[in-house]
Amino acid sequence: MTNFTFPEGFLWGGAIAANQAEGAYLEGGKGLTTVDLLPTGKKRWDIAMGKLESFTPIEGEFYPSHEAIDFYHRYKEDIALFAEMGFKALRVSISWARIFPNGNDDKPNEEGLQFYEDLFDELLKNGIQPVVTMAHFDVPVHLVETYGSWRNRKLVQFFESYAQTIFTRYKDKVKYWMTFNEINMLLHLPFVGAGLVFKEGEDKNQIKYQAAHHQLVASALAVKACHEIIPDAKIGCMLAAGATYPYTSNPDDYYHAMDKDRESFFFIDVQSRGEYPGYAKRFFKDNDLKIEMEDGDLELLKDNTVDYIGFSYYASRTASTDPEVLKHMTSGNVFGSIENPYLEKSEWGWTIDPKGFRITANQLYDRYQKPLFVVENGLGAVDEVTPEGEIHDDYRIDYLKKHLAEMGEAIQDGVEILGYTSWGPIDLVSASTGEMKKRYGYIYVDKDNEGNGTLERKKKKSFFWYKNVIATNGAEL
Ligand code: BG6
Repeated sequence: MTNFTFPEGFLWGGAIAANQAEGAYLEGGKGLTTVDLLPTGKKRWDIAMGKLESFTPIEGEFYPSHEAIDFYHRYKEDIALFAEMGFKALRVSISWARIFPNGNDDKPNEEGLQFYEDLFDELLKNGIQPVVTMAHFDVPVHLVETYGSWRNRKLVQFFESYAQTIFTRYKDKVKYWMTFNEINMLLHLPFVGAGLVFKEGEDKNQIKYQAAHHQLVASALAVKACHEIIPDAKIGCMLAAGATYPYTSNPDDYYHAMDKDRESFFFIDVQSRGEYPGYAKRFFKDNDLKIEMEDGDLELLKDNTVDYIGFSYYASRTASTDPEVLKHMTSGNVFGSIENPYLEKSEWGWTIDPKGFRITANQLYDRYQKPLFVVENGLGAVDEVTPEGEIHDDYRIDYLKKHLAEMGEAIQDGVEILGYTSWGPIDLVSASTGEMKKRYGYIYVDKDNEGNGTLERKKKKSFFWYKNVIATNGAEL
């Protein structure tokens, strides 16, 4: 028992994404998306970085998004389980290509619109608020092939029309929105974040930051449309967060750590403060990057800032300028952190740092002074099913318990937090590796890395633990 309970109406729940859960990748009129071209194995990494060989799936490769966990057909069963845990919110994403199969069709696809309408109705019927991300790592492939994806300004208007369509259709059902999932991922996994494919010899930084400008303008237009069409809704940005620590007290390390954080804050500074920060302008100048902007872009960014800061927190990062120290990078972390000698790592090399969660939340709140929404957090781990069919995931409970305690501390520090949706409340496909065995869920899904399994759902020990956390509003962790 803690002596602290979370604020009244705190939005406890979980978060999933269309491409990692739905499957049915060509059903209901859906078009192909970038993630449908990401196989498992080493190729996945190369493509994620922007080296794509084919705009259609290649025979003989295994593509985990094609079936995923079949949420498309099983969402009622899954929502019943979320409701049993007492969820107040479920974060989902809309797949742009279910609504506009090519991304820029004249008319939306009614079957896709209806699918999400039914999904939102089912959630609301169960007392669960939908929290909706408009783009979670999936761009319609047609836009990549024809326009080069977000490197092209045309994407801005296509996204705006997608935004207007979904806001108009779901205005009475969805009151929490987010524009781009982990918008800063664009710099690290450009195909995943923005559908970018590079040709030999291209200046990648130039393309990435131009694409970033397009996404930032599109995000501001979405904020504008959301405020006009659904005045009582809140729309946020979404950052892959995690404070960067200097490895030593050497001022060079400190500055470098600050600089690394700014690489990510850059996006949120524009989305939340409405301006390109000075350090970004200097970075563009020093690196000879020319960002093309249209008249009115800067005013648009200034006038249409987000209502809240959505973020994911899995790990803190550590930075050093010492070449010897730099030899000790942690594996599996796209943010290129070095090993922190004070902290443990997950089986995938992700640093485990509950205190870093409190630090990150404080840092974000101090910087933006807007409500935060923790829209992802969790531990990816291998689960064993006992002969009795049980899953004793005490390691997951331990991770979450410590993180929730630190989130409570952050709230007591004065940080305003709207809710907490842990990542993958039901096991789903891993975004970075495409694996199924990297599990985050309170609910186990019978499926392996090669796609074998019955897809049966089973409650893990953490299911009952989280249910009690929600029932006691965090008094019992
Ligand atoms: C975030 C993404 O990067 O982290 C999710 O928004 C992703 O899509 C999650 O699944 C966990 O990462 P992974 O690689 O373990 O699935």
